[in-house]
Amino acid sequence: MEQLEGKVAVVTGGAGGIGKAIGEAFLAEGMKVVLADIVKAPLDEAVSDIGSDDLIGVVTDVASYDSLCATRDAAIDRFGAVHVLCNNAAIGAGATGHIWEHHINDWEWSMDVNVLGIINGLNAFVPTLIAQDEGHVVNTSSGNGGFTPMAATGIYPVTKAAVVTITECLWGQLRDLGSRVSTSILFPSTRSPGVMATGIWNAGANRPERYFRGTPEADSGGQDALQDYLDRARKAGQEVPIAPLSEVAELCVDSIRRDNFWATVPTERQTNLLHARLKSQLEQTPPDYLIEENLMAKSASERDAE
Ligand SMILES: NC(=O)c1ccc[n+]([C@@H]2O[C@H](COP(=O)([O-])OP(=O)(O)OC[C@H]3O[C@@H](n4cnc5c(N)ncnc54)[C@H](O)[C@@H]3O)[C@@H](O)[C@H]2O)c1
Repeated sequence: MEQLEGKVAVVTGGAGGIGKAIGEAFLAEGMKVVLADIVKAPLDEAVSDIGSDDLIGVVTDVASYDSLCATRDAAIDRFGAVHVLCNNAAIGAGATGHIWEHHINDWEWSMDVNVLGIINGLNAFVPTLIAQDEGHVVNTSSGNGGFTPMAATGIYPVTKAAVVTITECLWGQLRDLGSRVSTSILFPSTRSPGVMATGIWNAGANRPERYFRGTPEADSGGQDALQDYLDRARKAGQEVPIAPLSEVAELCVDSIRRDNFWATVPTERQTNLLHARLKSQLEQTPPDYLIEENLMAKSASERDAE
């Protein structure tokens, strides 16, 4: 979709972080934007903070197909059409333990939002895009899982790997149909070095009651891992900068305009990991690339032991 001006975009998980930045970038392109998010107060704040007649916020739960249909209808009611869907909403469940020890509600919450949330988005929007033979779907994955998993982080990379396969199948089926609708996978990344300081670091925040784990500590809210990560890096003699989210948004806009499927800013580390994985697969050798020092992936007990 080369021409973005006047087009209508829905961005899930748009109350903050990368989703809000993508919404702002779309508005700067002259697009009309619906920010959709499950948390009402931050969503209202984001909408009034940005302040545009071409913007509305719609409370949406991506785990519900009906909710996404209502958001699609709200976009069409307000702006007359819908052309772009950014399936951006996701959570980190803050699961503890090993992959065989995680609470099943952590799995269910993660699957419902990070995987079914994308599928609900496709089911609710793609028929409309195909019928008008114009549109683009951006599904957000992560280098963690989308390319190679950080083994210690378990659930999250499982969901982000699924996003890649869903989007590959979507692309293949759209091409098979001969549709002009297209799709990209966004791997949030920036040209500037540094971490993307967003709510995803606050794993476990806003956990809906149906996914409670049954202990007050586990269900009382999120645990902000960002400060912890920055402190650990500092202790290791590394000052980690905060990267501008506008660069992720630019990557997203550019990928829609150029119809770029793999929307990422490659790094040397990522390239090496991808090569190592492919080599391991082709030569049927153990996945040694998974054994790496990783500040973020270390468990709390390991941290405490240091
Ligand atoms: N920040 C990073 O370093 C990073 C790296 C790679 C990938 N990502 C991905 O980028 C995307 C955006 O995340 P972010 O970093 O901006 O985090 P974020 O937590 O700031 O944004 C995610 C948003 O999704 C919303 N959300 C959660 N559950 C929802 C539901 N059921 N329905 C609707 N909205 C819901 C949250 O309220 C939040 O506003 C996610 O898909 C995330 O996995 C982020």
